[in-house]
Order: sequence, then structure tokens, then C-alpha cells
Amino acid sequence: MIITIDGPSSSGKSSVAKEISKIFDIVHVDSGAIYRAITFLAINFNCIENESNINYKLLTDIIQSKKITFEKNNSSYSIAIDGVVVESKIRNSRISKLVSVIAAEKSIRDYVLIIQHQIASRNSVVMDGRDIGSVVFPNAEYKFYIDASIKERSHRRWTELKEYESNITIENVEKDLMKRDFNDTNRSISPLKIPENAVIINSDDKSIKNVVDEIVVFIKSNS
Ligand code: DC
Repeated sequence: MIITIDGPSSSGKSSVAKEISKIFDIVHVDSGAIYRAITFLAINFNCIENESNINYKLLTDIIQSKKITFEKNNSSYSIAIDGVVVESKIRNSRISKLVSVIAAEKSIRDYVLIIQHQIASRNSVVMDGRDIGSVVFPNAEYKFYIDASIKERSHRRWTELKEYESNITIENVEKDLMKRDFNDTNRSISPLKIPENAVIINSDDKSIKNVVDEIVVFIKSNS
């Protein structure tokens, strides 16, 4: 079984996907985390001079020498590089600023597509991202698109980020999200869009549980 959940940053899709993974006992792949892990490697291996000067040849060589996986721990899945969980290192604002630039690069997307297909060839998955129902698995059994307003999303992201960075302001988070929305929806390769036949859910006035319940009811009544 393949369930795809797409949507903009902080629409709640990863939290929803995490719960869906537990309910159906399937692997949760947060595809944004793959792009974040690659950005983490790009920073650590000095592939970035500035946003418009990134050494993709070097970065591609580095990521091909690493194993990016999702490890199960206490019923939830975390991203790991060569077996080491890096979840707490990939959510900071430096990575958030650079990741949409790196995610727009074709050689990087081609490599991520291989990882995504490999995982789903061995497991039932719920995968969340921007292009999962449109490009990665256009024929998936169940496709969802979760949206929310920029105000609601900024508030959610700020709440998440201030755990790691105590001086972060909500205004900066909103600016960063708007820039990322723009990059994600306007890039030429695999832009964020509503996939064909996806069920659209607006999460503004809904809790994670409300959205999860809606998805579970839909899947059960259509299986
Ligand atoms: O969901 P997130 O904010 O952690 O995603 C990080 C970045 O990765 C985001 O700017 C868009 C990009 N991304 C993508 O291009 N395609 C995906 N399937 C998932 C994420």
C-alpha cells in the first residue's frame, strides 16, 4: 500500500503521516527530511559557498557514498545517515533557508527519487512531501493534499523551531515560509501542486487527530 500526503511547509502533513504510519503499521517516509539530510551533508562537507554557488558534483558524490534510511524507534521513524539518526540536526533555520535551493536541483531530485522508490519497493509506506502524489507515486492508491493558511503554518513552525532556537521570531519564520512556498511552487522540476485525484484537506481549524480521522475514514471506506 502506498499513501501519499503532499502540501506546503508546516501544513501538518508530517505529523499526520506519522500517525497514519502507526495506525496502519507501515513505514513513514518524511521526504522533506531526505532533502534536509542532504543539505546537512552539503554544509558539513563545504559544498556551499553561497545560495547561488553550490558544488552539486561534490555533493552528489558525497550522498552516493552515504546511506540515507528511516529507522524505527518507539513506533515512529527517524531519518539516519549511515545508521546515525540526524533528526535533531536538520530542523534548524540555516538548513530551512538552504533546503529549497538544494531541492530544486535535478541531480539531487533524481537521487532522492531512487531512495523513495527503493523504500516503497520493500515496504508499504505513507510518504509526505511536495511531489509525492504528482511525480514520485502518481499511481498511488491513496493521495491526500493538506493545506493551511500562512498565519497558521508560521505559528506551527515557530512553535517547533523555538525548541531548538530560543531567539527565533514569528515574523522571520513567516518570511522564510513565504520564500520557501515561492521556491517550492515556482521551480521548474516537480513543483508543489495538488496531485490529480488527491483528496484536499484544509487543516486550519482542525487538530492533527481530526485530519488523521478524516484520512482513516476515507481509506477504510475506499479499500
Ligand atoms: O517539509 P519540509 O519543510 O521539511 O521540506 C524541506 C524542503 O524540501 C522544502 O523546502 C521543499 C523540499 N521538498 C521537496 O522539494 N520535495 C519533497 N517531496 C519534499 C520536500
